[in-house]
Amino acid sequence: MAKKIRIGKEIKFLPTCQSTNSLLMQMTLQDGTQNGSVIVTEDQTAGRGQRGNGWESEPGANLTFSIALKPEIIHLSEQFYLSMVIALGIYKVLKQYIPQDELQLKWPNDILVGKKKICGILIENVIKQGRMEWSVIGIGLNVNQIEFELGRAISLAMICGQPFDKQEILRLILQSIEQEYTNLAMGRQQALKTDYLNALYGYEQVCSYKDLNGKVIEGEIVDVEDQGPLVLKVNGKLQRYQFKEIKFLSLEE
Ligand code: BTN
Repeated sequence: MAKKIRIGKEIKFLPTCQSTNSLLMQMTLQDGTQNGSVIVTEDQTAGRGQRGNGWESEPGANLTFSIALKPEIIHLSEQFYLSMVIALGIYKVLKQYIPQDELQLKWPNDILVGKKKICGILIENVIKQGRMEWSVIGIGLNVNQIEFELGRAISLAMICGQPFDKQEILRLILQSIEQEYTNLAMGRQQALKTDYLNALYGYEQVCSYKDLNGKVIEGEIVDVEDQGPLVLKVNGKLQRYQFKEIKFLSLEE
């Protein structure tokens, strides 16, 4: 049986840092970095997001942290299970505070409340000889920030009308991700996939999307493949899309 990984046994708190993901990526190149180490910062000055975007977060208000994992249990051909583990781990904690019909995952791994984003996840892999040697998982969770420049962002405090103890939320999230990771290590892929799909925005619902050529597609999400592509049923036929190949029109401003 795979050895249980403790996530966050070793946590470094930094008052300021350019990007916790970049720092942990550098650390994975050095010997001695522990599997499951976490770096948290109060003030991330050059946060990075998906699609080459930045990640802005008011200093001291939110959670910005990264986890370094050696995903020995995950084969490259099944790498999307790691995204599911992380997104679901966070989702299950947020579900305790946010009505479940408002909280949804957006493929591949954003977390939304209504149509607004509460959490972004950036997973970067170090691949050696065809294997995932390290995964650095960056998480930006809006906790106590009340005003955002982007209209499409929301925080826990805005939803619940009260500030939250960030350390407590961090502890719950690390514990929850560890639990989901253990489930995966125990071979519970099917349950993980079912939970993920059931929480997914647009699952088994007809929605409008736009493809790379600007063509509008009416389709229904029916699956997410093990490597990550989204599977849509369009006019009765299955079509698969890689990340960046499709946009959710219903979530555009
Ligand atoms: C997204 O674009 O939705 C992903 C955002 C990920 C932001 C987090 S904050 C902590 C970690 N460090 C980074 O530079 N980015 C991630």
